[in-house]
Amino acid sequence: MTGGRTRGDIADPSLASLGRQRIAWADGDMPVLRSIRERFERERPLDGLVVGACLHVTTETANLLKTLKAGGATVLACASNPLSIQDDVAACLVADEAIATFAVKGENHERYYGHIDAVLDGHPHLTMDDGCDLVSRLHQRRPHQLGEVIGGTEDTTTGVIRLRAMEAAGVLRYPIVAVNDAETKRLFDNRHGTGQSTLDGIIRATNLLVAGKRFVVAGYGSCGKGVAERARGLGALVTVTEIDPLRALEAVMDGFRVEPMAVAAREGEVFVTVTGNTQVLRAEHFAEMRDGAIVANAGHFDVEIDLVQLEAMAVGRRRTARPMVEEFTVNSPDGAPRRILVLAEGRLVNLSAAEGHPAAVMDLSFANHALAAEWLARDRGKLSNRVHGVPAAVDAEIARLKLQTMGTVMDEPSESQRAYLASWTAGT
Ligand code: ADE
Repeated sequence: MTGGRTRGDIADPSLASLGRQRIAWADGDMPVLRSIRERFERERPLDGLVVGACLHVTTETANLLKTLKAGGATVLACASNPLSIQDDVAACLVADEAIATFAVKGENHERYYGHIDAVLDGHPHLTMDDGCDLVSRLHQRRPHQLGEVIGGTEDTTTGVIRLRAMEAAGVLRYPIVAVNDAETKRLFDNRHGTGQSTLDGIIRATNLLVAGKRFVVAGYGSCGKGVAERARGLGALVTVTEIDPLRALEAVMDGFRVEPMAVAAREGEVFVTVTGNTQVLRAEHFAEMRDGAIVANAGHFDVEIDLVQLEAMAVGRRRTARPMVEEFTVNSPDGAPRRILVLAEGRLVNLSAAEGHPAAVMDLSFANHALAAEWLARDRGKLSNRVHGVPAAVDAEIARLKLQTMGTVMDEPSESQRAYLASWTAGT
């Protein structure tokens, strides 16, 4: 435990000043969240509430946590991924912000869940999750605490899928706001954030020239679309793999080649999984890959690349080729050994090998979390124990504020246009 009077488990308290500098830099690109923070300071909508947050511990998250604190909340934080933790940020949260933070980059499975438990020991009234590990742990291990919780927010597609499964099974015991499904989250964070930061992670890990490379992007949801677009923008030849006919058709009409992975595996030079599913790259694909193939994951959990199968079929010693790059050698059908390079242990490459989504896009996502927390606090006891969408008016307000900070001016409909849009009698 470190950090004077604030509780926490962090790697190195001496990193706090670096963290402070980087958090302030990110804040410069988060004007919408900043305006919410200023209002929260005046109105204190979260007074007396404890927030337990299980999020990627990054500079952007620090600015969200500061906003919740400005609103009157006591905040405890842990990581939603062991490799995305920025140790300087964790140190600064403890030293400067009195936010009890339990996060050490590279923490193992046991310490990861120990940190979630440390947050739950604070008896949160509101939970903030990215992937549903906090909510799942609370429901499974601490049912006696569930009555204390007034609601929660969830950041990501995978988390919302898990929460909807809990709702369908009738076990969800408090209301959750699915921030992921807000238009101001999904259209920008998932597509532009994941698109840019995934390429950033791959490039930082490998120093690869993207132009002319054969990329295979598995999954064409909003995140996969972003990755495919950005790879193409840098000159890659992109193939998409899908299991959903609508998305496959969308990819074809967006100008991508769509193939089964069994075929794409032979030609691809860089593979990126962004499906939310498991075992997307597995033994039969590794066996077909070219020498030097790079495999990376940008889906929430580290289950998309089957590393157990890859380890089992590897010959010789596994080798660290560069930080964040592990080299496995497998025997190919022609008998020649081939190297497969796995980035960031198959965990989110954008958050492990780079810094995650840029602050300007997290501004939108985290504005949604802050306003959802305010809504849950205001309407406590009124919302059913289900997964709720962000109200459309909140979505529109966040978009309006963001446009304002960008200096972008829209048109207003005229009176006759409003009347036309509201009528059903006018036709051809
Ligand atoms: N998810 C993706 N990018 C992120 C970031 N920069 N901070 C927090 N969560 C994220």
